Amino acid sequence: MNSPVAGVPQRHSDLLRSMHDFSKQHRAANWAGTFGQFLEAVFPNDARGIARSSHQYIWDMIRAEGYEDAAGRLRCQLFEDELFGIDDTIERLVDYFKAAAAGSEVGRRLLLLLGPPSGGKSSLVILLKRGLEEYSHTDAGALYAIHGCPVHESPLHLVPHTLRGQFRQTHGVEVSGELCPYCVSRLGSEFGGDFMQMPVQRLFLSEAGRVGVGTYAPHDPTTADIADLVGSVDLSKVSEYGDEGDPRAWSWSGAVFAASRGMLEMIEILKVKREFLYLLLTLTQEKNVKVSRFPLIHLDETILAHTNLAEFRKFLQEAENEALLDRMVILQVPYTLSYKEEARIYRKLTSSTQAFRDVHMDPHALHVAAAFAVLTRMQEGEEHDAENVKKARLYAGEDVEGMSQSEVEKVRARFPDEGLAGVSPRFVINALSNAIIQSRAKSLTTMDVLIALKDAIESDVRIDGKKKRKWVDFLVTARKDFYNRWVKEDVHKALFVSFEQEAQQLLDKYLDEVEATLDNRTVKDPITSEERKPDERFLRHVEEKIRISESGKLSFRQEVVRKAMGAFKRGEKFTLDSHAPLHDAVEQYLFEQRRDVLRLVSSSARPDDETRQKISAVEKRMVDEYGYDPHSAREALNYVTTLLAQE
Ligand SMILES: Nc1ncnc2c1ncn2[C@@H]1O[C@H](COP(=O)(O)OP(=O)(O)OP(=O)(O)O)[C@@H](O)[C@H]1O
Ligand SMILES: [Mg+2]
Ligand SMILES: [Zn+2]
Repeated sequence: MNSPVAGVPQRHSDLLRSMHDFSKQHRAANWAGTFGQFLEAVFPNDARGIARSSHQYIWDMIRAEGYEDAAGRLRCQLFEDELFGIDDTIERLVDYFKAAAAGSEVGRRLLLLLGPPSGGKSSLVILLKRGLEEYSHTDAGALYAIHGCPVHESPLHLVPHTLRGQFRQTHGVEVSGELCPYCVSRLGSEFGGDFMQMPVQRLFLSEAGRVGVGTYAPHDPTTADIADLVGSVDLSKVSEYGDEGDPRAWSWSGAVFAASRGMLEMIEILKVKREFLYLLLTLTQEKNVKVSRFPLIHLDETILAHTNLAEFRKFLQEAENEALLDRMVILQVPYTLSYKEEARIYRKLTSSTQAFRDVHMDPHALHVAAAFAVLTRMQEGEEHDAENVKKARLYAGEDVEGMSQSEVEKVRARFPDEGLAGVSPRFVINALSNAIIQSRAKSLTTMDVLIALKDAIESDVRIDGKKKRKWVDFLVTARKDFYNRWVKEDVHKALFVSFEQEAQQLLDKYLDEVEATLDNRTVKDPITSEERKPDERFLRHVEEKIRISESGKLSFRQEVVRKAMGAFKRGEKFTLDSHAPLHDAVEQYLFEQRRDVLRLVSSSARPDDETRQKISAVEKRMVDEYGYDPHSAREALNYVTTLLAQE
């Protein structure tokens, strides 16, 4: 029934549920009380959750956002729509938190993300920070803090040491950490030492609010002051409290205090003074910082630092840094080596910009740029171009002649430095932006993009001459070995009213004829019903397209039949996708038959009506089915025609 009120009861219950959730959230958000009330009403419901360390908290957040993929590995929804092609890196990051949460030694070392410029380090950290903020608003992510504490410390710090053993027995959780000097002084002066009266409230992490999420970026290292991290005496308050050593006269504005309970991001960490570094390493290792005048201040937070390779190499050169390195866990964040994933990055970055949204790009523009970028990231060596092209295709998940997907890991292991240098996503995006600004065109073709990249390389003063030549060569390779293949395929397909259907028919015919020859049978002509011998000439025509020799034809045919049988047994249809070489062969065979249309594009200076019609039908199919706009379709057609003339 389609009555307009049919949905009302449903909507009503949805509304009730949302109101219920809202009020629950509101109550949770507003939970506040004394430590005594907290121990009675809140703590017993989730003792483990409330006693979590920052590492455990992050690990729980990751797990809450996680799901298992088909291969059984834990993936994190948090990164899914934002970071592409660096699954291995993310997996290692997740493993780090898993180990640290379980109490492993790695939790006592500083996590350093190391990678080339604009390779996603900051994005990775930002996503974690946003994830933490959101998680702290959920039931599972509920955190509590002493109200008014400058480091929003855990209320469990109020539990006296002598009672902690009993606490462990009753609730099964370990209480660690000391009350901060501020709370110690307040407990004495305001509550006469009665810790059960100390105020507690729920904590929501927020970078903007400087709660549990902190960021430190070195500005000028020479003027950077350790006070940026740990605060300093607040002179305006000294007169009020009469003593510089009073914790209330201290300005608790440092980044390490803000980040307490959550995460501190240290940007370009190796640029900071060594004094900073020692402080941070001690903080991770001992969970405390020393501030003049005060005893050690207990702080629980996870430090996530990042740096680029150039800075890291410089750092390595100083012998005295070796001991520091020992106290860090280094996680490499390389560029992706899959051109398909790289293209997704460009898609993400361009779709958020108005200038790009107004411009049509032909369907291969981003992929060709990505193929170029990936080629520049391959390890320099004696590798030949052809080898690099194969690797690039392999890394993108394609099966290529002589290499299979099962070998990817072996190949990667041979080139450990791949992805640590080369063209960055930002370089490509900048080149694309320039192309758009300069041309003011509403349509950008792959060739326009290649030219823009060439300009960008040649005008970049940071790149030396040798590298420039090499990169320009990679542009040529990207065009020759990627673009030409793709654009030809589009045009080929567009030459047919229904390419898929005709290709499948041809494939079926090929299979019938092959089976007949192998079985020594005759074939029945579907129209005349006459029995005839298998069409060997047709078979050879198809096979010659992929250079199957006379002596090799038998084994090729047997293999095709075997695959077809396999598909049949699995209840699948044998299609072009089931057999890559046959796919190429059929495509080329069909294409040969339509070549004349393309010849018409170039041959007649003034095409007649019929020719014009044929050509515009092809262009229309390119627009309707293959993602071109009229301008790029025409360009592509002309381009393929020129290629054809050279064959
Ligand atoms: N693997 C990736 N997946 C998705 N986006 C990426 C990836 N790598 C880089 N980007 C995008 O490129 C841009 C630059 O990345 P980001 O700032 O995170 O890099 P970075 O490693 O911190 O660089 P830098 O060393 O210059 O600080 C961002 O907009 C980011 O979204
Ligand atoms: Mg960065
Ligand atoms: Zn405190």
